[in-house]
Amino acid sequence: MDIHLRKVSLSAWIVLILLFGNASGQSADTIPSLREVFRNKFLIGASVSPTNIHSAEGEVLKKHFNSLTAENVMKMGVIHPEPNRYAWSGPDSIAAFARAHGMKFRGHTLVWHKQTPNWLFRESDGRTVSKEKLLQRLKEHIFAVAGRYRGQIYAWDVLNEALSDDPGTFYTRTPFMEICGEEFIEKIFRWAHEADPNALLFYNDYRETDPVKRKKIIEMVTRLRDKGVPIHGIGLQGHWSIHSLREDELEACLKDFAATGLILHITELDLSLWPGEPERREIRPEDNVNAYTMANANRQDALYGMIFSKFVKYADAIQAVTFWNITDRHSWLDEWPVRGRKDHPLLFDANLQPKFAFWKVVEQARNYK
Ligand code: G3I
Repeated sequence: MDIHLRKVSLSAWIVLILLFGNASGQSADTIPSLREVFRNKFLIGASVSPTNIHSAEGEVLKKHFNSLTAENVMKMGVIHPEPNRYAWSGPDSIAAFARAHGMKFRGHTLVWHKQTPNWLFRESDGRTVSKEKLLQRLKEHIFAVAGRYRGQIYAWDVLNEALSDDPGTFYTRTPFMEICGEEFIEKIFRWAHEADPNALLFYNDYRETDPVKRKKIIEMVTRLRDKGVPIHGIGLQGHWSIHSLREDELEACLKDFAATGLILHITELDLSLWPGEPERREIRPEDNVNAYTMANANRQDALYGMIFSKFVKYADAIQAVTFWNITDRHSWLDEWPVRGRKDHPLLFDANLQPKFAFWKVVEQARNYK
């Protein structure tokens, strides 16, 4: 049976009809808006590019989402490609779209060791830059970017992915860490706060369901808080796979992070049909299959339902849930870890229609207190 033709179970229909009236078809006006379903609980966001906001996917955005994140165009290497040149037009167009459609705008990301511009760590003669100079460059970058979008960005990922996946190592070895030592972390949060005092400031990382990594994240943000550093929240990326996400791990994860008392944002949610892999690799024969099988889709539906049941349970702590991309028409996972291998990790299919997983998510609204 074609997975698009699967029927919603009787109990699910009853719930949907009770919630949304006659939801017996999937014509545009009987499909509930995701952002309306979760209004007053959390924002529903998506990562976008300056191009896809104006494509057919933009219509999905307008109906279902109330928050945007720039997938790439605010990263250092893209927005600040040369010492004295900033590329404002991409982020400006996303900011304008957010304004025009009454959406929030999340900033991603002020400092990350990936997608950095080559010039940042080098003197003009090629030598490695001094600590003082790198800190000065970071400060100028943060004041320029956070300053330009002051009042437009409601929350910034100030620092992305600084903690190591190796259980025995705390920080990832990055040029920032090697040149400046850990003190740069405290400084960038203070500068971001000075540049935009009203923005909420986040540390954002992945593999948060892993107990060892989670402990590190909580330890780092707690240390910063204890020192009086302005950090308001933790971004849990949520790049998960149907082959490894476990309910008990997600429960423990949200419980521990909620206990910090900080604001939680789910920042980069998707649920891959492929097993997660840490490194890029070449395509193999076994990758040339359609992963969107009935069995995988059923598993994805059930897990998306489970995920949102947890988000609803911890809604007092969770302020926003952002998907990484909008629909299965395009996902970064089509390129990663295997270039050209299709994935279907989101709630809307490649034809921009709600998947069964969408309805499983919507169903969780019944658990509102
Ligand atoms: O724009 C160039 C294009 O000009 C060039 O022809 C092409 C050739 O490969 O590359 C294009 O740039 C790519 C860019 O995405 C835009 O599509 C880069 O190669 C590619 O590396 C980059 O990947 C992005 C990745 O971050 C970089 O590490 C993904 O789109 C983006 O989804 C991903 O997002 C990250 C979050 O920021 C942080 N958390 C993890 C998440 C997934 O890796």
